[in-house]
Amino acid sequence: MDGNGRWAKERGLPRREGHRAGAESVREIMEACKELGVGYLTLFAFSSENWSRPAAEVHALMALLERFLREKAKDLDRQDVRLLAIGQLDRLPAKTRALLDSIIARTASHSSMTMVLALSYGAREEIVAAARSLAADAAAGRLLPEAIDAELFSSRLQTTGIPDPDLLIRTSGEMRISNFLLWQISYAEIVIVKKNWPDFREGDLFEAVEEYQRRHRRFGAL
Ligand code: IPE
Ligand code: MG
Repeated sequence: MDGNGRWAKERGLPRREGHRAGAESVREIMEACKELGVGYLTLFAFSSENWSRPAAEVHALMALLERFLREKAKDLDRQDVRLLAIGQLDRLPAKTRALLDSIIARTASHSSMTMVLALSYGAREEIVAAARSLAADAAAGRLLPEAIDAELFSSRLQTTGIPDPDLLIRTSGEMRISNFLLWQISYAEIVIVKKNWPDFREGDLFEAVEEYQRRHRRFGAL
């Protein structure tokens, strides 16, 4: 979800207003995905690199996340949506983390859709942690290096149990991945949308899905 700051700047508003408007897009996109029958929606909400933004902006983003979680809890129940989170969650403020954990627990049995929030997330960190856990098992004699394959590696990532994404949408026209799900997007179809995230709404999602449907996925075969 990129372009909140630029959206605000274009309107002469403070950046936090862009994030606030972006939260509205999240609400709308979540409901649209549910209607489309999307099984998993993963939102890159806060990267490990985002911690280096000014403290006031980090604070505003955490406050917004808490508000979103508090307001969304009932909707997640009503819409049968399960919430999950990936990332270095222990870096989140204690009260944000507690709220997040409580909603994850409360929605654990919901099965119409899964919404995954990537928070304090970085793909390289995730991959390093997986490598470290495999290395620890090997060093302890519990695992033969030859037994490490792509499937075992995947199972040590935080996304274990979550299917690889079919479609990756990046807003604000940026043509880069920025440390998002590097392992998992190996065969994802990428759609770059020029609009900033706060302007990305239901109709834009439908267009991105139509674009996806026009692609021919060959997974390296003919
Ligand atoms: C995305 O918008 C939201 C977060 C990273 C949390 P940005 O804040 O990156 O907006 P730009 O890229 O400065 O426009
Ligand atoms: Mg940005």
